[in-house]
Amino acid sequence: MKNLRKVVFPAAGLGTRFLPVTKSTPKEMLPIVDKPLIQYGVEEALKSGFKDIIIVTGRGKNAIEDYFDYSYELEDILSQRQDNGILEEIRRMPKEVDVAYIRQKKPLGLGHAIMCAENLICDEPFGVILADDIIDSKVPVLKQLTNIAKRLDAPVIALMEVPKEMVKKYGIVKGKKIENRLWEIEDMVEKPDIDKAPSNLAIIGRYILPSNIFYYLKKVKPGKNGEIQLTDALKLYAKNNKIYGYVFEGTRYDAGDKLGYLEANIRFALKSKELKQGLLNVLKKAIKDECSQKG
Ligand code: UTP
Repeated sequence: MKNLRKVVFPAAGLGTRFLPVTKSTPKEMLPIVDKPLIQYGVEEALKSGFKDIIIVTGRGKNAIEDYFDYSYELEDILSQRQDNGILEEIRRMPKEVDVAYIRQKKPLGLGHAIMCAENLICDEPFGVILADDIIDSKVPVLKQLTNIAKRLDAPVIALMEVPKEMVKKYGIVKGKKIENRLWEIEDMVEKPDIDKAPSNLAIIGRYILPSNIFYYLKKVKPGKNGEIQLTDALKLYAKNNKIYGYVFEGTRYDAGDKLGYLEANIRFALKSKELKQGLLNVLKKAIKDECSQKG
């Protein structure tokens, strides 16, 4: 696959698991320590060589557009205060990225959100990042997938092994292993029961997709609540075309879920020199207090 320049961030979901905060704050703008979720994804895309960022937004998501834009008033005040460190940091994103936005008028599923970007993608393969899957890795995961997609000239999706009892929360693939970490995918099942799951390899929110995925997305019949699922389109695609899954190297946090979100915050804060010792003290005290209350 050549010409991998564009990456789509579907960010038009309702974020119901985080209500009430997501009533007026987009889930993608919730902070992990001091940066919003979506910034981690955008930084991953840039480090993976993708230059064109496309964000699919919806009602109530204006904060995302403001975030990737200059903020003249704030910059003016910070520059009067000669607060240069933070001034540089808040200018960094708007300087480094040009973002194109497209609205999904109704939250009709992940597949539908990707379809909204069709006119901006044109005839090129592209990446997809779900910003609430935060992944900590030496080589950015989108880069790991890009390397395979270029070598095999085929689409690739990120996979992760999950405990058997968790398969019902994910899209699960059936396939054959062809190399270390690399699977040729034959089929996919959305949220199967343990006894019906073809494997314990779950689809995670990073994809390299071909431009003709839109043809398959249009063929998908809407499911529950009229939603169009990406997994259904990939399933159709896999019937006639080669598609691969790569068990990525790194640690993933499901920041779309409250516990995963809290864990991501703790883990990323523990990576900060400034916060590490203070946070460890807070955690130790909290655990001690909890244990002594139980005793
Ligand atoms: P989720 O399944 O996490 O749904 O979407 P959600 O609405 O964001 O959150 P919950 O489950 O209600 O708490 C996965 C990704 O797909 C996007 C979301 O923004 C998220 O990045 N999405 C989902 C859309 O862009 N549009 C949709 O209609 C649905």
